[in-house]
Amino acid sequence: MHNGTTVTQFIIEEQRHIKGATGEFTALLNEIVTACKVISNAVNHGALVGVLGSAGSENVQGETQKKLDVISNEVFLKSIEWTGHVAGLASEEMDDPYPIPSQYPRGKYMVVFDPLDGSSNIDVNISVGTIFSILRAPEGITDAKAEDFLQPGTQQVCGGYALYGPSTMLVLTTGQGVNGFTLDQNIGEFILTHPNMRIPEQTQEFAINMSNSRFWEAPVKRYIDECLAGKTGPRGKDFNMRWVASMVAEVHRILTRGGIFMYPIDEKIRSKGGKLRLMYEANPMSFIVEQAGGMSTTGRERIMEIAPENLHQRVPVILGSREEVQTVIDYHKEG
Ligand code: AHG
Ligand code: MN
Ligand code: MN
Repeated sequence: MHNGTTVTQFIIEEQRHIKGATGEFTALLNEIVTACKVISNAVNHGALVGVLGSAGSENVQGETQKKLDVISNEVFLKSIEWTGHVAGLASEEMDDPYPIPSQYPRGKYMVVFDPLDGSSNIDVNISVGTIFSILRAPEGITDAKAEDFLQPGTQQVCGGYALYGPSTMLVLTTGQGVNGFTLDQNIGEFILTHPNMRIPEQTQEFAINMSNSRFWEAPVKRYIDECLAGKTGPRGKDFNMRWVASMVAEVHRILTRGGIFMYPIDEKIRSKGGKLRLMYEANPMSFIVEQAGGMSTTGRERIMEIAPENLHQRVPVILGSREEVQTVIDYHKEG
């Protein structure tokens, strides 16, 4: 018998301290947790159940969809649509918000999600994840349209991700710190294993796709050049580098041992505004990082304060250990 705290118990106990909480949020989160378990199971079985490879279609971003992108999206929608707790669902994999079937009741929340993050890693058996953000539906809205989702990250009720790595983990914030849970495959429950996760303020580890370096802006180039210069350079210490190409895995590493993650704006992607999506990647991850004592910025503004203009908007992302992120912000100020 396990005697740890399950994610459900944890959320119920956390919600007890919130005035006016009705249990709706807890019930919604439970279904998100179930969706993550189903996706984890599909990811774990991989080629055995024929879920690897391309789906032969493109999403709204013009990216080729993997079979698991499509499956995970479907799992998320089906797990949540019936609950009666949502007035809207929107996903990286769908052009427009999902129309909730008319037979289901509506609720006060909206969920925005990236069903499978890092999907280029799927076929090579490297960690992937799911990212989600829970928002409140605007007053009186029962079938949310794209504009109803356009709230700044500061309005999020919950930000979370599931990481499908050597073990499956769920990491969550509702604005009261960050907690991590590990899936016990034998009993099918996420158990609290990483209470109150905090990002160390300093780091000697950076994560950036170096192949884009010739396209970067001067402040980012300066920061990375100084990291690379090591002990005898202006930073006076040696740095290490990682790049998994799964944001979930990078953020999880940073929550565990510190670091800085950057997908900055560069000349190649300037017209798109960035690489990562504001609503379902940058905002939930920024909420988690800030709640763990880190910082998250575009280089010029706090990500969570951006007023979104469209659902699939992209932004530059620089997040992680406070002191390093502040250094990058300072370099942007200096030009
Ligand atoms: P997704 O698989 O949901 O499209 O997201 C992939 C993202 C992110 O997780 C990762 O940090 C980045 O794209 C990797 O980009 P590069 O391939 O340019 O390194
Ligand atoms: Mn993604
Ligand atoms: Mn994705």
